[in-house]
Amino acid sequence: MRIGIVGLGFVGLSFAAVLASKRYQVVGIDLDKDKILKIKNGYAPFHEPDLDQTIKTGLKNDLVVTDSFSELDDCDFIFITVGTPQQSNGKIDLTMIKRAAEDIGKIIKKTDNKPTIIVKSTVIPETTERTVLPILEKYSSKKNHIDFDLLTNPEFLRETKAVEDTLNPHLIVIGGSAVAANKLKKFYAKLHPKTPIITTNYQTAEIIKYANNSFLATKISFINQIASICEAIPSSNVETVAKAIGMDPRIGNLFLNAGPGYGGSCLPKDVKAIIQFSSECGIRSSLLDAVDQINDDQMKRIVSIIENKIGNMNRKTISILGLAFKADTDDVRDSVSIKLIELLLRKNASVVAHDPKASNNAKAILGNKIKYAKSIKDALKNSSCAVILTPWKQYSKISNSDLKDMRKRIIVDSRRLLVDHKLNADYYAIGLGKR
Ligand code: UDX
Repeated sequence: MRIGIVGLGFVGLSFAAVLASKRYQVVGIDLDKDKILKIKNGYAPFHEPDLDQTIKTGLKNDLVVTDSFSELDDCDFIFITVGTPQQSNGKIDLTMIKRAAEDIGKIIKKTDNKPTIIVKSTVIPETTERTVLPILEKYSSKKNHIDFDLLTNPEFLRETKAVEDTLNPHLIVIGGSAVAANKLKKFYAKLHPKTPIITTNYQTAEIIKYANNSFLATKISFINQIASICEAIPSSNVETVAKAIGMDPRIGNLFLNAGPGYGGSCLPKDVKAIIQFSSECGIRSSLLDAVDQINDDQMKRIVSIIENKIGNMNRKTISILGLAFKADTDDVRDSVSIKLIELLLRKNASVVAHDPKASNNAKAILGNKIKYAKSIKDALKNSSCAVILTPWKQYSKISNSDLKDMRKRIIVDSRRLLVDHKLNADYYAIGLGKR
């Protein structure tokens, strides 16, 4: 069996590497030649724990990476894993998936085998049937269910756990005709014998992904709202609240860490896309509007907290600890840190940022508008306020000696990493009432 994977981002590359490491014949396709070169040398083009090693194992087996679609001509399964980023109006941008469908269509036009094409990219309901399918049929001059099969199969992996989640997914969802779904089901049942599989139609599979991500975002905005309330209650602690309510099995203990708001390449974009979609359907998305609004407000609250502490920010140095949208990644897409820095710059603050992995990616967005410190101490030098945003392990080790060169020892800790440290500083933590 030969498997084609079109689009080598977090999802596609992790899937390609894991399958090849398990001795499947895999061809990974991406149009970005630099990316292809890096992967051929055994490296992921982004920081992702365990992925480089998995790619290297895959390359020793039968992993081919290329920018040539003609390699897909003898594939039994062709997975589409290209990005579906967000447009400025909140809608998803289908340019890459349309291009992928067109290129795959042109290839299968010339082949005799009957491949199963699987949309793994996150797509708004009806995209598989109304956008991908007509393009495939037009460019292949072939028909779904007769000359090829089309399925949708959303992916739930988390960045920083991409390999682990690809090896052990908690669930597999397959949308499409029962006959076609059965082929993919057999493939997955062999790969992940213990993972439950839900088979349904295209549209339901597509909405499952949005329901999943917007529910996760809802949990985060919920606990961030409770965190704000806790901050107004002397001595209260959102962590204990989260721990307690998380013990109710109807609630569950995951995704209840209050913080600066959710970021990353999925949750913000998916919540906005489903809001946009529901408004097109004539449905008021009041709950999801609030989830999105609370996320935005959380960042603005952090700005107010800083202003309350240091007054006018004009030319005062503010240290930002953490640029990545979460720890263990260099990804800054939709990172709260970047948005917060932009707000601080508008108030004329001088920003110095530190991140163990993501400074280069942040620099590609912010350029020389801020300074990039190599160490935590350098970031804190002459600072009037330090804001902890990404929960990198090293930030939880900050001690009084790191703070000694600050102009004013004020710390705003959005992740409560330093709660138990006896810091000689004015310390404000998200979700903690005044002690
Ligand atoms: C998410 C989904 O978890 C995953 O299933 C989907 O496939 C892609 O989108 P990811 O973007 O990798 O994964 O990040 P995730 O771990 O979900 O975190 C998203 C954001 O929420 C981060 O900014 C994180 O800091 C924040 N977060 C997460 C919280 O603030 N509190 C929490 O309790 C959990």
